[in-house]
Amino acid sequence: MDRRQFLGRVIVLLSAGIGFLVGLPIIGYLLAPLVARAEEAYVAVGKLTDFSVGRTMLVKFEDPSPLAWAGQTASTALWVRRIAVEGAGAFQVFNVNCSHLGCPVDWKPDARLFLCPCHGGVYYQDGRVAAGPPPRALFERAWRIEGGSLLVRAERLPTPGRPGA
Ligand code: FES
Repeated sequence: MDRRQFLGRVIVLLSAGIGFLVGLPIIGYLLAPLVARAEEAYVAVGKLTDFSVGRTMLVKFEDPSPLAWAGQTASTALWVRRIAVEGAGAFQVFNVNCSHLGCPVDWKPDARLFLCPCHGGVYYQDGRVAAGPPPRALFERAWRIEGGSLLVRAERLPTPGRPGA
């Protein structure tokens, strides 16, 4: 092997190594959803006595996001509607985000409607779409009662705008 061939092979090996190092994070990013396990975490949002039957209240919610860089985006809010004192249908917990493009919806107790300020989306008190562009009902979260507190399941936010998402 002469000097020219040797240097050519070294350059090919170095290029392949650099390409592998640069491509590794991209491959990891693409494959991570296949191996990542969904976090099953419930977060307390208040005592049962904080929620009156027939009222809908806004509560702060810190998503225990698995992404270290989530930062401020892990802080969000939920609308908690108490329907009954107890039972499987005692609560409905909605993401604050509109199912159209994600703007925070506002609860209007006199009208018993959720209104979205961005494009005029309107939802009934049970989260169903009443009017406007939202393609589906407000996103609901699973909840459970434990030790006199209401716990809400932390989960990845669905993609707004996708029907059935
Ligand atoms: Fe709510 Fe468009 S974001 S109607």
